[in-house]
Amino acid sequence: MATYIIKGKKKLNGSVKVSGSKNAALPILCATLLADKKCTLKNVPDIADIHSLISLLKTLGCEIEFKNNIVIVDPKNIKNRSMVFEGICNMRASILLLGPLLARFGKAKMSYPGGCILGKRPVDVHLRSLEKLGAVVVEDNEILELKTTKLKGAEIVMSEMSVTATENIVMAAVLTEGKTTVRLAATEPHVQDLCNFLNKLGAKITGIGTNILNITGVKNLRGGEHSIIGDYLEAGTFAIAAALTKGEVEIKGANPHDLDIVWNKFKELGIPLTLAKNSVTVHPCKFLGHVDKVRTAVYPSFPTDLQAPFAVLLTQAKGKCQVYETLFEGRLNYLFELEKMGAKFEILNPHQAEIKGPTKLTGVPISSWDIRAGAAMVLAALVAFGTTEISNIGFIDRGYEKLEQKLRKLGADIKRV
Ligand code: EPU
Repeated sequence: MATYIIKGKKKLNGSVKVSGSKNAALPILCATLLADKKCTLKNVPDIADIHSLISLLKTLGCEIEFKNNIVIVDPKNIKNRSMVFEGICNMRASILLLGPLLARFGKAKMSYPGGCILGKRPVDVHLRSLEKLGAVVVEDNEILELKTTKLKGAEIVMSEMSVTATENIVMAAVLTEGKTTVRLAATEPHVQDLCNFLNKLGAKITGIGTNILNITGVKNLRGGEHSIIGDYLEAGTFAIAAALTKGEVEIKGANPHDLDIVWNKFKELGIPLTLAKNSVTVHPCKFLGHVDKVRTAVYPSFPTDLQAPFAVLLTQAKGKCQVYETLFEGRLNYLFELEKMGAKFEILNPHQAEIKGPTKLTGVPISSWDIRAGAAMVLAALVAFGTTEISNIGFIDRGYEKLEQKLRKLGADIKRV
């Protein structure tokens, strides 16, 4: 894997446009399996996770072109096949094939999905919900295998507001006879984008953006065109970069209100912001104030995917702040990398840590642990004294498109070796 070399303490200034959302593009690509005709997807981020998923879709017979952030998928020759092979273990999002394959072919067989190591990431919500629609779980140990003679609309109360489980149920239910109601559905912007895409193809989903989705099954879905929403998590990452380097940066291309709770924390820290329709501008702030607590939870609460990046800001803020990661128990491990740079914290338990600031960070060799922890290391390097070498940046490439080019354009001293 490549390495980033970053010389810190360069102020970021200017304007940056975020790419399309990874977490919207992944389920939407899987949903093209449900269509009868070609689908054209615009604003698709050119990142490793998208390329991995495209290879899986090609294995299923999809004809796919991907250039200039546009993906054209022609599903006319798709056929079901067992997806039991190693490649699948690299990405958690492969679980999103389960719903479409079951709806289209009445069976799905795949290796257990891998992806970022974020503690236990079970699939019980996916399986129990698909069972409610009439799926039978044949195996769920090493291999995931589901089959059905016929799916039928049902009332489903999800046991967790899981993002990808909601997406799987929606994708299975749109072609399922009868009415399906999904209660305690996830409402993240990427879940909404998937539902909007499916409706463009002829699906009948109402309640989009709420915790109750009503789906009336249709016989088939046509092809169509859709532009993937901008990545609000990337927008949050750049906003933190701007605040850390005390620069003035306009971040365009995502709905800033998807991060309202994050902006509340910015305000608590005293960072001035201007929100517009499709952009946010972060203004310089000399000294960061104090935040008591950051607690991650499902949308619209503080996103777990910005917990590690925000913690870097906390190393520069005044006093102690408790970080409470409610979703994933493995998502505080990146702190040990920040410790090598001088960060001060105490891990209270697998879900909670207390970060003490402000501390001087110094560039040393560190490593990227997952997509978001990797982004956090880049942020720490931008504010650190000296040069930071970040290894394993393949993780960052999985989720961020052209990160170093975008940062360099804003004034960062970053290179990939
Ligand atoms: N959960 C269960 N059982 C399940 C599924 C989930 O108990 O069957 C629990 C999890 O343990 C966790 C919670 O439900 O506590 C939420 O997990 P969720 O299923 O929502 O996570 P996910 O769908 O696997 C998506 C994103 C992640 C993001 C989480 C939370 C995609 C492709 N992935 O994962 O994104 O962290 O939602 O918002 O949409 C990333 O982009 O870096 C990333 C990891």
